[in-house]
Amino acid sequence: MKKIAILTGGGDCPGLNAVIRAVVKTAYHDYGVPTVGIKDGFKGLVEGRWKDLKESDVSGILDKGGTILGTTNRDDPFHINRIVNGKEVSVDESDRVVSNLKEIGATCLIVVGGDGSLKIASELCAKGVPVVGVPKTIDNDLEATDITFGFHTAVATATEAIDKLHTTAESHHRIMLLEVMGRYAGWIAIESGLAGGGDVILIPEIPFKIGKIVETIEGRIKRGRGFSIVVVAEGAHAEGEEMTFGRTVKGSPEPKRLGGVSIGLAQKLEEATGYETRATVLGHLQRGGSPTPFDRILATRFGAHAASLAISERYGTMSALKGERIKEVPICDAIGKMKKVDPNGDLVKLGRSLGVSFGT
Ligand code: F6P
Repeated sequence: MKKIAILTGGGDCPGLNAVIRAVVKTAYHDYGVPTVGIKDGFKGLVEGRWKDLKESDVSGILDKGGTILGTTNRDDPFHINRIVNGKEVSVDESDRVVSNLKEIGATCLIVVGGDGSLKIASELCAKGVPVVGVPKTIDNDLEATDITFGFHTAVATATEAIDKLHTTAESHHRIMLLEVMGRYAGWIAIESGLAGGGDVILIPEIPFKIGKIVETIEGRIKRGRGFSIVVVAEGAHAEGEEMTFGRTVKGSPEPKRLGGVSIGLAQKLEEATGYETRATVLGHLQRGGSPTPFDRILATRFGAHAASLAISERYGTMSALKGERIKEVPICDAIGKMKKVDPNGDLVKLGRSLGVSFGT
């Protein structure tokens, strides 16, 4: 008798619930296989928190942001932080994953996650745990799939923000900076920047020169365009300078979090141009809320495909979008290498053809 267990790991992302719904429904309708939902990511699996997921449990969740599986987090069963003799230490509790999956009676664990969670999935696989992956991140920085679900929603949110900043920028003749997420890749910035008609787009893949941004803005002013929109990826940085890290999360496998580059840059642009400048950090609005129809469909296709991979015992693989089709790829193809914007690629060329400055 087969049984699927599913967990969501890493940061949340619009479309997680659509994946869970598709796994539960496909497993049940196509194969008569039940699904168990692990609560609170890998930590919940180690600590024994799960519940049966019936069709009624996943009804009405397609359009909901977040995850119905408790909380999602970056905890790693190979390195769980515990207090031992009054001291915080990192403990390998991956054996509990094995024993708890046995207790559940799960024949496969579906891990919905970004590179951190998929790396854990591949380590579990090497330990003999039957695992299947579903790629997830708003950053779209995973190799092995053309697009991850959540990205389209994040781009839509960022584009809407640019549209709104346009009208207020134009009304006051200001320079408006919009800082968007994306970690070390500039996908959200370049796609929303192009969709929103940004004048300057700054991405981590193309280190910028402040003088060049000022030249673009002054050129616009001379042409009677008294306002400018600058879309800044959180990982963007000036040539020869480091990225800006806004906070450190203690005990996290990835403690340094980017953020705040637009604040200092806004000050410098105001000083250099004499034009009033404002920075907006869009932040977690990009991760929250309802997924776009595109993301609902992609997440549903991934979930249905992952259920079939789990049931046909294609362990160590994950669902991926390749062109128009959902295909099976090894999980290890998605980890350890980040998909970045090609500085000489089509999107950057398109921007340059339209007169967009990349700060170079
Ligand atoms: O990976 C998703 C993401 O939203 C990144 O774009 C961002 O850098 C990071 O997570 C923020 O993490 P946190 O929610 O922990 O601040």
